[in-house]
Amino acid sequence: MSTFPTFPTDCTSLLCKHLTTEIFETLKDKKTANGFTLEDAIRSGVENPDSGIGVYAGDLESYSLFASLFDPIIESYHGFSASDSHQSDLDPSHLDAPNPDPEGAYILSTRIRVGRNVANLPLGPAISMEQRNQVEQDVSTALGTLTGALSGSYYPLEGMSETVSRELIEDHFLFKAGDRFLESAGLNHDWPEGRGIYHNDDKTFLVWINEEDQLRIISMQPGGDILEVFTRLTTAISEIERSVPFSYSKHLGYTTSCPTNLGTAMRASVHIKLPKLSADMEHFKTICDRHHLQIRGIHGEHSKSEGGIYDISNKRRLGVTEVQCVQDMVDGVVELIAEEKGLQSTSSNRQ
Ligand code: ADP
Ligand code: ARG
Repeated sequence: MSTFPTFPTDCTSLLCKHLTTEIFETLKDKKTANGFTLEDAIRSGVENPDSGIGVYAGDLESYSLFASLFDPIIESYHGFSASDSHQSDLDPSHLDAPNPDPEGAYILSTRIRVGRNVANLPLGPAISMEQRNQVEQDVSTALGTLTGALSGSYYPLEGMSETVSRELIEDHFLFKAGDRFLESAGLNHDWPEGRGIYHNDDKTFLVWINEEDQLRIISMQPGGDILEVFTRLTTAISEIERSVPFSYSKHLGYTTSCPTNLGTAMRASVHIKLPKLSADMEHFKTICDRHHLQIRGIHGEHSKSEGGIYDISNKRRLGVTEVQCVQDMVDGVVELIAEEKGLQSTSSNRQ
């Protein structure tokens, strides 16, 4: 790439904010050992100017080789500077999370996921078909050895019927095909080969293979027992880690293809019904911002809410521990429920 990309004047992505002509000139001819370039890293944000972030890494080296672009983006998103270091804490006994909704009036379900990538391999945007297929084989074999509540089966995307995949997506278990941000990042190459989902019978423990990250390890269940969901997840992570070495760096924590997921790579969410509070979006957002929470729609990222139900999750993932990520979500959800209850009783007193 020789010319500086053009962005529309209303572009607000972190890429267009931080990519200066100086940075571009310094980085444009650099290549990681896996052949990943600046052009590869920014393609998604250039082709999708409505991106929030706009960059992806092809390997761990991308984060150091292209640091003059990645560091300010990471700092803007996570508030984490180049001199900070990351800490991990996956101990459920450190979490203070009594069920915020024991009567089940607000929280429909809880889900916590982490992203993981295999050590010493390129990330999805730079991986070859052979390497990706090897990841699928190694990870599905490792998952096949799990026992008890984690034991289940692996279902490759290739050969899965349209009806089964539609049902899994609608029920919030499986990733969707055709995400344009991932497409431009090179993460959909050779689709659907090498991709699939492992799950136990109850679908409370699931692993996505070779989507945005090589593994997305997921624990979920109906209701608001967040501690149970976190405990199942941490048990599963340590079981899988016995046979699959994960890419981790002292500075950036768990390596992920998108900088928003670095560190813990954890997103802890509830699907929660907040019809009164969400009628005043500004107030709703103020509470979420105070607790570092993100609001998504009911069908995942870039989707809309339905019936006053939202996906509320931790936004910070780097420079905070896994326990803190979940704690952000728990504390915010407690306040959101209290606020919704207050609004409901005010409106019923008025009637
Ligand atoms: P990711 O969690 O990997 O960031 P998405 O936001 O696209 O990706 O969510 C993936 C799927 O998980 C979607 O179908 C979404 O509705 C579902 N999901 C997320 N949080 C919950 C939850 N608390 N309960 C049930 N499903 C959820
Ligand atoms: N690349 C997209 C953007 O910049 C998504 C970023 C965060 N989401 C993700 N799934 N990694 O808006």
